[in-house]
Amino acid sequence: MTKTVAIIGATGLQGGSVLNSLYDTGKYKIRALTRNPKGESAKLLLMKYPGIEVAAADLDDTESLRKAFKDIDIVFGVTQFFQKQIMDKIETGNVDAEYNQGKNMVDAAIAAGVKDMVYSSLDSMKQNSNGKYSKVLHFEGKNRIQEYLASKIDQIRGYFVYLGFYMENYVDFARISPEDNKTVEFAFPLDPDTKLPLADTAKDTGAVVAYVLDHPEECLGTVVEVSGGYYEAQDMVKAFTEVTGKPARYVQIPYEYLPSEELKEMFHGLQEFGLFNGRTEFIARNGKINHTFTTPTEFWKNRGWTGPVSSKQ
Ligand SMILES: NC(=O)c1ccc[n+]([C@@H]2O[C@H](COP(=O)([O-])OP(=O)(O)OC[C@H]3O[C@@H](n4cnc5c(N)ncnc54)[C@H](OP(=O)(O)O)[C@@H]3O)[C@@H](O)[C@H]2O)c1
Repeated sequence: MTKTVAIIGATGLQGGSVLNSLYDTGKYKIRALTRNPKGESAKLLLMKYPGIEVAAADLDDTESLRKAFKDIDIVFGVTQFFQKQIMDKIETGNVDAEYNQGKNMVDAAIAAGVKDMVYSSLDSMKQNSNGKYSKVLHFEGKNRIQEYLASKIDQIRGYFVYLGFYMENYVDFARISPEDNKTVEFAFPLDPDTKLPLADTAKDTGAVVAYVLDHPEECLGTVVEVSGGYYEAQDMVKAFTEVTGKPARYVQIPYEYLPSEELKEMFHGLQEFGLFNGRTEFIARNGKINHTFTTPTEFWKNRGWTGPVSSKQ
């Protein structure tokens, strides 16, 4: 019988990728979830993917989740830490804001009789750093959601994908050099040769989730990383120039320039312990996944982006 998948975050990067890949398999009925099913993003999904259903769900509203998960076999779940809905709560001292959303999602899925859930989690930086970096809330919250879901194994099967460092981050961290008003600068605090497991989130996530669903026994309760492999932090910058012909440079900014303690600790943790705590086994598994992982060069080719617009133009 065709299984029905509900996708949290279907209008976003990770969930959008999952929707795209699972739709392409032709094996699933799909319910794309959004807080705003009448919004433009939802309308676009309905046009792009004929036959899918779009429904309302808010991770802060358990009743909406229960309705959204009715008659669903599988849930893909992602929690977006970096948004006002969470930040406002964090600012008032509610450091569990992301965890609570994840717990709502797990509880509602169990109540609705969902059998399998793939959750986009991350390592605990606190554990990986032996307590040195304990304030990376968007790692800790996800890891606690993972623990909670795993603890419910008698009621729901939990699978965990961990996203690599988004290639898309390079677009967000780019600026035109104030010195020559021409060179594209990519500014991060990491040493330029820091090894990062990179992911083209929009393309790679869905392929890995499809693999997880096709290999439940292999993947149950384990971590499945989403990344084509390790690259130096500066490789995306070299690839940018190679593809666009535009001058670009990697700029190593001081940690102090980062806007929050959260991000400072995250980048310190990435520098010292790595995003995947040094794990490399996923690279061999990638060979079994029916997907060509995006390289930095291909990312820029596919994107067709030639840098931010200069503020002086
Ligand atoms: N940047 C990186 O390198 C990196 C690496 C690993 C992990 N991550 C993690 O990735 C996560 C973000 O994932 P993304 O990139 O896919 O985010 P995104 O593109 O911003 O999309 C967020 C999605 O979540 C949905 N959403 C947000 N709040 C919701 C709520 N309360 N209830 C229901 N749906 C909600 C949104 O749907 P609607 O707006 O339509 O409701 C949207 O589809 C972050 O938590 C981050 O920590 C990032």
